[in-house]
Amino acid sequence: MSDARHLLVVDDDPDMRLALELTLRKAGYRCTLAADGQEALDLLRRQGFDLVVTDLRMPRVGGIELLERMSAAAPHTPALVITAHGSVDAAVESMKRGAVDFLQKPFGPDVLLAKVSAVLGRPAAPRRGRPRTPFVAEDPAMERVLSLVEAAAATRATVLITGESGTGKEVVARRIHELSPWAEGPFVGVNCAAIPANLMESELFGHEKGAFTGATEARPGRFEQAQGGTLLLDEVSEMEPALQAKLLRVLQEREVERVGGRKTIPLELRVVATTNRDLPEEVRRGRFREDLYYRLQVIPIQVPPLRSRRRDILPLARHFLAAACRAYGLEEATLTAAAEKALLAHDWPGNVRELQNAVERAAVICRGGPVGPEHLFLEEAAVRPDGGIRVDGTLDEMERKIILAAYAQHGHNKKATARALGINVKTLRAKLRAYGVEGAEPGGEG
Ligand SMILES: Nc1ncnc2c1ncn2[C@@H]1O[C@H](COP(=O)(O)OP(=O)(O)OP(=O)(O)O)[C@@H](O)[C@H]1O
Ligand SMILES: [Mg+2]
Repeated sequence: MSDARHLLVVDDDPDMRLALELTLRKAGYRCTLAADGQEALDLLRRQGFDLVVTDLRMPRVGGIELLERMSAAAPHTPALVITAHGSVDAAVESMKRGAVDFLQKPFGPDVLLAKVSAVLGRPAAPRRGRPRTPFVAEDPAMERVLSLVEAAAATRATVLITGESGTGKEVVARRIHELSPWAEGPFVGVNCAAIPANLMESELFGHEKGAFTGATEARPGRFEQAQGGTLLLDEVSEMEPALQAKLLRVLQEREVERVGGRKTIPLELRVVATTNRDLPEEVRRGRFREDLYYRLQVIPIQVPPLRSRRRDILPLARHFLAAACRAYGLEEATLTAAAEKALLAHDWPGNVRELQNAVERAAVICRGGPVGPEHLFLEEAAVRPDGGIRVDGTLDEMERKIILAAYAQHGHNKKATARALGINVKTLRAKLRAYGVEGAEPGGEG
């Protein structure tokens, strides 16, 4: 009997409570009784139940309030509501507050048991997760992203997120995970560009002991680690062709085999892939498998660049400023009107990441005081994202603009900036020092 489903029956009428209990016990369920919503909440906080069956009208805490408070106290426990004869409004209201179904009085034992077993037989209750990752999206251009995120969250479909560097692709991926019924499961990320090709296969799929030289122990891959949750394949376009073929097979079969292993492991997870490349173009050039592309983009989400959603700029800036002040233990700083104007006028080639860096750095420099445009170091970009060049200075001046723009675009990461410009880090450091920039940024070497 110990693995019988455990139900919590909530009713202020002792006769009704007893009748419900008898019927449910006879059918093999475990029952605990509560006389009102308050008693029920106290029990729910202390132990888990598979289902709550509750009346609506009760003293102290009634059924509607119980439903409301359950979403915090026991977010994964479904509730079945008992309503008075003919009270359609109460039924609708309870469903809105999260009840999974209702029973109208009077009902016989058969109806009760049918509803209970229907609810318990449903796959893991898709009550939505509570997002933890902050996600600012106020510009109308983000409406489509938001609705696709919601739609994707409800299913386990594979999602392909595209967008320029720093637009928030990873944030979108986390958001989908956190809003999904599998939010409690793991969120595992793999950067396909950062792992050497020869290690990638075992990284993704795991390996058995002795599968290759150096495989001294068996190790599960990222796919296995993400079981029951979400696997993020970051920069998927950078994957080698041979591996693309293997990935395709895993996605088709929904099972994985460790390197050097013989048993197949069924996969229960969602895959989200991201890229800042034009994947159809990569497909045309023969660098990315077309079949894999279609397999990945079941739900395609395009995150627009920051310059085409300018109404997000100030809300994001305020969000980053407040977060930075909290993190550094500073008083909450504000943006001056001139700073806001400068932020709105900037082109943001490095997108949200560039904005975050500019604001965090300003927060440190201002130590809690008001942030003015002079603290933001928004270099006017010499090279516009469309590739057009505005020549308006000597070669040295142009070089300075280009270097500072690239530096900002890469989030003040010297290695990435140097790589992008094709110069070495030492040269970059010397230039920045000459411009009076190096060392000023928080976080030091990036
Ligand atoms: N809408 C948003 N709300 C709050 N923070 C955001 C938002 N979008 C992006 N960020 C923040 O901006 C930074 C960059 O975002 P993220 O890493 O998701 O970008 P990305 O598109 O994955 O970049 P890359 O292409 O370089 O991998 C992160 O610190 C993230 O937390
Ligand atoms: Mg990313």
